[in-house]
Amino acid sequence: MSEQPKEQPIFDIFIIGAGSGGYHAALRAAQYDAKVAICEKKDVGGTCLNRGCIPTKALYSSANLLTDIRTKAKEFGIDFSSMPVPNFAQAVERKNNVVKDLVTGIEGMLKMRKIPLYRGHGKIVKANVDLNGEKLFECAVEGKDNVKVFARKVIVGTGSVPAQIPVMNIDHKKILDSDDILDPNFKKLPKKILIIGAGVIGCEFANIFATMGVKVVMLEFLDTMLVTEEKLVIKELKKVFDDLKIELYTGQNVLKVETTPTGVKGTTCDAKAPKDQIATAEKKTFEADMCLVSIGRAKVSANVGLEAVGVEIDRGQIKVDPKTLETKCPGVYAVGDVTGRMMLAHVAYADANVAVANALHAIGKFDVEPKVSDLSTVPWTIFTHPNIGTIGLREEAAKKKVQKVYTGRFYYSSLGKAKAMGEEEGFMMVVADGDNDKILGATCIGAEAPELISEIAVAMQNGLTCEQVAATIHSHPTISEMVLETVEDVHGMAIHKVGRRKK
Ligand code: NAI
Repeated sequence: MSEQPKEQPIFDIFIIGAGSGGYHAALRAAQYDAKVAICEKKDVGGTCLNRGCIPTKALYSSANLLTDIRTKAKEFGIDFSSMPVPNFAQAVERKNNVVKDLVTGIEGMLKMRKIPLYRGHGKIVKANVDLNGEKLFECAVEGKDNVKVFARKVIVGTGSVPAQIPVMNIDHKKILDSDDILDPNFKKLPKKILIIGAGVIGCEFANIFATMGVKVVMLEFLDTMLVTEEKLVIKELKKVFDDLKIELYTGQNVLKVETTPTGVKGTTCDAKAPKDQIATAEKKTFEADMCLVSIGRAKVSANVGLEAVGVEIDRGQIKVDPKTLETKCPGVYAVGDVTGRMMLAHVAYADANVAVANALHAIGKFDVEPKVSDLSTVPWTIFTHPNIGTIGLREEAAKKKVQKVYTGRFYYSSLGKAKAMGEEEGFMMVVADGDNDKILGATCIGAEAPELISEIAVAMQNGLTCEQVAATIHSHPTISEMVLETVEDVHGMAIHKVGRRKK
């Protein structure tokens, strides 16, 4: 598609960025028989597919298999002549193939739905261009393809990149960000790695690397890792990190990371030291072969022609109407990470559904009902071992919101299926409104936690009570019985737990 089309095509929707939000929007729009085109300057699938969720989970699966063999094989009656050792290069090869297959799959779906995919940097050139009596957006793609297109509506899904701050001195050789770690050619493990930031990315990689035999040292500014998670969940994960000999230093203000002839060095002081006393505060140094900086992500919205057409942007973040996802420029919608609401692929998918429906309805496709964005019940997951799944409010926050809070807790060690699988670590906890029995939140650490939390999401989204979920027959033996027993425990009625009926 590298030649200039003879006629200027007019699309119902032009989508900038083929990441989770963008490609989802394109496929959804095509299902509604809309005329849609999309552009992408890198690989389709964006961060999640190429440099985030999927490649991390592929590496996690290698690490997890290793853990299973190491910790379970002998007891399960499977003997190895010698203990297995990781082959990181092969794990990366597999990860690369998983990514390649999925990218090809999305490209294939775009093709099958006859959605033009223009390769290059997309931007809005002008709004309100008069063409055939219609007011349209003029957009351009520059790069491998150089095209000009006109569209009735534009959806921007330009995503996010790893945050960079100057003191971290990311050189992409020894001091890396998560893109570098997931690069197809990153195939050699360091002996020792320093990880800056004990958030989601930091913890997932700490787990993978430590399992593969790398010495991991983590530095975190706050006084805990995974600050948004339930304290009991953090405690459970910390036990596992201790077993893996991961050194976690919290309350560390990282002043500088630099390369040394042998590797890298991070210098910190107490995070509580006032700004004007940092220079004289006591310093600590941490050395390693390599450093991963995982301190959050920055939104990508520059050079897309947005401000010129009136889109409001605050520190990279595109401001959207939280219900319709339309920006301050009528007809331009934004989806996914660039809106800075919840930087999760599944939120981008949900955003895409909303933006497409609203855009199409607005151009007169009245068979498409407009949609309202609702992020009140978004689950999130962390792929450490054990996995973590969370949704809604933690107990403390719930107490501030409603008068009477009931909680239920159930342990994997009491569940038959978990015992049979050798997955006895962890628990699930549900927080409910004591007055109406509705679920306010849940958290789970243990086998299949991310899958379990989706059942809670269905219940919360539909306003189900604990009693209604408990009345639903769950298949036995399954890990999903964790949900059943936990919601029963909200009323003190979990069968496999000694509890007292709450009235
Ligand atoms: P994050 O916000 O989860 O964690 C960053 C951590 O770095 C925080 O704990 C913060 O206190 C710490 N930090 C920041 N500056 C620091 C400094 N100078 N020194 C020491 N510590 C510092 O960000 P992360 O881990 O980079 O993840 C980015 C995004 O990607 C998140 O929004 C996350 O939800 C998403 N993500 C989701 C995944 C999933 O759904 N499983 C997997 C990976 C990422």
